[in-house]
Formats: sequence, structure tokens, C-alpha cells
Amino acid sequence: LGNGLALTPPMGFNDWNAYGCNTSEALIKQTADKMVSSGMAAAGYTYVNIDDCWLQHSRDGAGDLQPDFTKFPDGISGTAAYVHSKGLKLGIYEDAGTATCAGYPGSLGHEQQDARSFASWGVDYLKYDNCNNTGAAALPRYTAMRDALAATGRPIVFSLCDWGEETVQNWGAGVGNLWRTTGDINASYGSMLSIFHSNLALAAAAGPGHWNDPDMLETGNGMSTVEDRSEFSLWAEMAAPLIDGSNLLGAGADTLSILTNKAVIAVDQDALGVQGSQVSAANGLDVLAKPLAGGDVSVLLFNETGSTATISTSAAAIGKSGASSYGLTDLWSGAKTTTAGTISAPVPAHGTVMYRVSGGTTTLPAAAPVQAVGA
Ligand code: GLA
Repeated sequence: LGNGLALTPPMGFNDWNAYGCNTSEALIKQTADKMVSSGMAAAGYTYVNIDDCWLQHSRDGAGDLQPDFTKFPDGISGTAAYVHSKGLKLGIYEDAGTATCAGYPGSLGHEQQDARSFASWGVDYLKYDNCNNTGAAALPRYTAMRDALAATGRPIVFSLCDWGEETVQNWGAGVGNLWRTTGDINASYGSMLSIFHSNLALAAAAGPGHWNDPDMLETGNGMSTVEDRSEFSLWAEMAAPLIDGSNLLGAGADTLSILTNKAVIAVDQDALGVQGSQVSAANGLDVLAKPLAGGDVSVLLFNETGSTATISTSAAAIGKSGASSYGLTDLWSGAKTTTAGTISAPVPAHGTVMYRVSGGTTTLPAAAPVQAVGA
């Protein structure tokens, strides 16, 4: 969306994966504090996002949405003020239907009024869901909220949550800053793997201001540490939003060290804004490449299978040429080596090895064929 926002994939936290409907002002404030004290804010995490269930079951006499004041005693505006005081931004959730997925009042037909509420409360990000949509086409429902947000004059990142329906990748760039490409993730390797495959295929649609969204991270929510690291690596290689969905207040050292790996985050946040794409995928052994600003390429070796395997590619296969030697930086160990062309490593079951490759010249993939709709 050409609103000047999300020129790199949004980074932050959302409470749904770990807490479901148990959202609260205390949770959001404590999570904001944790984002600062853990080093996540310094690593680039900015948005603290409230998901479903923050509101009352009915609108007030003027038709305005009302926060549930038992959960949010200071309202969304008081919560936003606190989050802003920490140098962070606040996100909220609504739905392009008659009710949210959890049954609270939806914004369909109330777009301008609700966008004005969000702006007046100091909201910086809206995740806009697709439940109870009366069967109406998505594009006009999402466009109505896009225009209502723009009319407020407040910069608000617009996150489309229509689960990849109606080939959103073909029109999402004109409507939102990011769009979900699949149904909901859960904290299992199988769910993460299947969402990775769906999202990978849509690489051409992503770019600065308009990103494929394979859903919030489950890192720290129950997969193994090796799998958590693969998820984080794959999401970064795909220039996906890095929205942590874990119980940050109880996060262990492993989770925090994965979430704050600055070398991997730099791949995700690279200014060129190209989503990594598939180079090869034989027998569950995947090679992905992502060209970066300045000419480096991030290459990711992912072993989907249940036993250790050696995964190999070459400088030429990832778009590099013209040098007798290329530099390789392992983005998880930090080790630096060189190669004449072969890029190869043993990769544990469900694991990932990720290198930043430098030297020579880089051939970029063809420009993304993105269709702008009504922008
Ligand atoms: C849908 C969305 C989820 C979450 C829930 C909340 O399932 O896809 O990400 O927002 O609704 O009810």
C-alpha cells in the first residue's frame, strides 16, 4: 500500500498465539516493558499488537466501539499512551464483517467511525480479519477500511487477515501493507512447514510497503529449538513480518536469542525488500536465495526431513558470478569462510543453515508483477 509505511516488514508482538482471548492492558504493558528490557526493541521490534477480544459486545449509544474496561481499565488510548512512552507503537484488531472471529462487533458498514476511533486512541497498526463477512467479496470490504484509515490522517499500518483467499496476492499491494497468505498457524512443525510452502510460492507479490504474511511466529511456543530457529530463518528469508506470538513474559534464553539474532533480522529487514525464493527443492532439501541491498545474497539451506542431510548449491545457482572466491558468513554461528563456488553444509533434521554470501556480481530475479488496485 502506498501509504509510506512498512517499507520493511513490520516487526513486533501479537498476543493471539500465546494468550488467545486473554488479552489485557496489564499484558500489553508488561510485554512492552519486556520488549525493551530483553533487547527486542533495540533489535527492531516496534509494534505491540492486541488481537481479538479487547472490546465490549455492543457499541455505545453513538455507535462507537467500546473497549472492555475490565480488561483495559485505561482504555485503548491509555494503553497506547503507555506503549508510546516506551518508544513502541500500538496495534489493534478488527474484522471486515458483522462480527469478529470471537463474536465481538465487526467494522463492516462502520469503517469510517471505527477508523476515527482507532486514530483518536493513538493506534498505529490495524489487523483486519475476515470472519462473518456475509459472503461479500473481500476487495470492497478491505478497500473501505483502507480509505477510512487514510481519511483519519494518522499513519496506520494496514494488515489484511483474509487467509490468502480470493488470490489476495494479486490485489493486496493496492489495499494493505501486508496480507495473510494462509489459514492460522499453530505451534507445530507440520503447520509451520505447510505455511512456509504456501507463502514461498507467492514471492513475486512482495515488496516494500506490501508483504506476504505467513502468520505470526510460533517461536517459543512449543516446537523444538532447532525448529524454532528454522521458522525464524525461513520467515526472515521470505521477508515476512516478524510478529512474535510467544509468551514473552516467560520467554527462555533460547527463544530470546533466536528472536534477537541481528544478522538474521538484517536479512528480513533488508532495504531491497525482495522475498527470498526457491532455488531448488529435492527430496525435502530446500535451497532459498534472497538478494540483498549492496549485492550480498542470503542463502538458506533447510532440511525438511527427519534425518541429517548435506544440502548443496552453488554461487551461480543463487545469482552470484564473476569472482574466484566468495565470502560466506554463517548467520547463526557467525563463522566466516570462503568458497570458490560450492555452498554446502550438513543440516540436522528440521534444521536450517543460513549464509550471507558476498563477492562478485549479483543477478536479481525479474521484477515482481504486482497489480495495484484503486491505489
Ligand atoms: C482468526 C485470525 C487469527 C486471530 C483470530 C482471532 O482466526 O486468522 O489470527 O486473529 O481470528 O479470533
